[in-house]
Amino acid sequence: MSSNVDGLAPPPGRSSQPGEAAKVALLAAACAVRTKAHAPYSRFAVGAAVLDEQGHIHAGCNVENAAYPQGWCAEASALAVMVAGGGQRVLAVAVCAQGAGPNPPPVTPCGGCRQKLREFAAADCPVWVADGAGVLVASFTLGELLPHSFGPEHLPLATPP
Ligand code: THU
Repeated sequence: MSSNVDGLAPPPGRSSQPGEAAKVALLAAACAVRTKAHAPYSRFAVGAAVLDEQGHIHAGCNVENAAYPQGWCAEASALAVMVAGGGQRVLAVAVCAQGAGPNPPPVTPCGGCRQKLREFAAADCPVWVADGAGVLVASFTLGELLPHSFGPEHLPLATPP
């Protein structure tokens, strides 16, 4: 699911970060798509949304499979939608899920998804995490979640992002 909201992406070439409007729209998109999750095995629904360099928002949910390892995460879905829609860079990420227990920790992207995001996002890319009610419960940068990471620039034949 993709949508476009004018003015969400900072102007190209500027170091400014996506602002409050982007945060609100991205969290809303992540929480909306969470309702579409196919999670009959874990019953753990996750929604994710990414903001691309053109100001487009791309959202996706987790899609589980009866052959358990074949399922995939919400972040992977959102990235696939972005790439299919022509987006090339991730400027911000939102994740929406409800952690378990009376004092649930924020549901951050899994390790594999951190690496997937790393392919398209810089270390200062914000990762906003909402609970199942859509309330922002934590904010990180991708660099905080995946320090000392490996990425495209380590490969001599890769085209610079
Ligand atoms: N899941 C995600 O969609 N994103 C994450 O970053 C963590 C885990 C999904 C995978 C699986 O469908 C369910 O949550 C339980 O692990």
